[in-house]
Amino acid sequence: MQISTTLADHPVDDGRLAEILANPGFGLHFTDHMFTVEWTPERGWHDARITPYGPLTLDPATAVLHYAQEIFEGLKAYRHEDGSIWTFRPEENAARMVRSSHRLALPELPPEDFVQAVDELVRVDKRWVPDPAGEKSLYIRPFMIATEKFLGVRPAQRVTFMVILSPAGAYFKGGVQPVSLWLTEEYTRAGRGGMGAAKTGGNYASSLVAQQEAIAEGCDQVVFLDSQEGKYVEELGGMNMYYVFDDGHIVTPETGTILEGITRASIIELAGKLGYQVEERRFSIDEWREGVTSGRIREIFACGTAAVVTPVGTLKTKDGEVPAPPSTELTMRIRQALVDVQYGRAEDTFGWMHRVC
Ligand SMILES: Cc1ncc(COP(=O)(O)O)c(C=O)c1O
Repeated sequence: MQISTTLADHPVDDGRLAEILANPGFGLHFTDHMFTVEWTPERGWHDARITPYGPLTLDPATAVLHYAQEIFEGLKAYRHEDGSIWTFRPEENAARMVRSSHRLALPELPPEDFVQAVDELVRVDKRWVPDPAGEKSLYIRPFMIATEKFLGVRPAQRVTFMVILSPAGAYFKGGVQPVSLWLTEEYTRAGRGGMGAAKTGGNYASSLVAQQEAIAEGCDQVVFLDSQEGKYVEELGGMNMYYVFDDGHIVTPETGTILEGITRASIIELAGKLGYQVEERRFSIDEWREGVTSGRIREIFACGTAAVVTPVGTLKTKDGEVPAPPSTELTMRIRQALVDVQYGRAEDTFGWMHRVC
């Protein structure tokens, strides 16, 4: 892909940048540039460009604003101690975006173009990648939207793919803490034949009211069950789930209606290397309750790009609470192993890291 680059005349000055990177938060600050490429059936993907970051001008009839034909991705760039910059398995995000595009009737962006777009934009804005201290990183948000001006319900004939970047602070400020969960029995995230496996805005829009309920119940995050039987654990609003049993086996809910997390997939490989067998299968809420009560479940954790791995504490339900499992030992070992690979502090035996510059 041929990418033209127009640099910003007024990039954020070094003083302000240092201030932002000292305490970036999440999703609050955006870098000096963005990547854009357009698609039409006649021309395919064309006009790839890096330009100064700025607002879009959209016609009020732009398709995405009405029928939500959009998909996105999320990954991070990490600075290593030697100053080099790396992303974690970007080709997996590219492949997931292709799968999401099939579900949302959007055009397929070739994975090599996805990776190239991310690489070139991160290189242009490399001064925005924070130092590794305190698990800071540069969050990368690729997204694809239907930009045709048309109010009919059919796949758009004009589509835009973009990448924006935002520095991110550590997910856990004062050290890793277990998250408390609220079990929603009213709302579900995805149904059979629905969009659960696609990374599309609608799934997140529909999760907000359940997340609000979780907060109102004094919990950090919400757990969703399957929509058919209301019995099997699916995932959290933005993380996949893992259960560690006392005999050393580990269970994670099977794919189908959940988002196929790249952290989730990496943990299956990593756990195998550490000598643990991961079973991908249906996991019921009763098994959670009984497993913790009987002591057979030693640890529960959630995982995703944002938090990497986080221990799960108490589960609150309308019928009472399931206490936190007794240990976080393997959870923290897996977390450390992943973070060490991402920040270049451990050998990358799986070949997961991709050098940007
Ligand atoms: C609904 C949902 N599940 C799981 C995940 C974890 O996926 P990943 O490990 O690729 O970040 C995410 C994170 O983006 C998510 O939004």
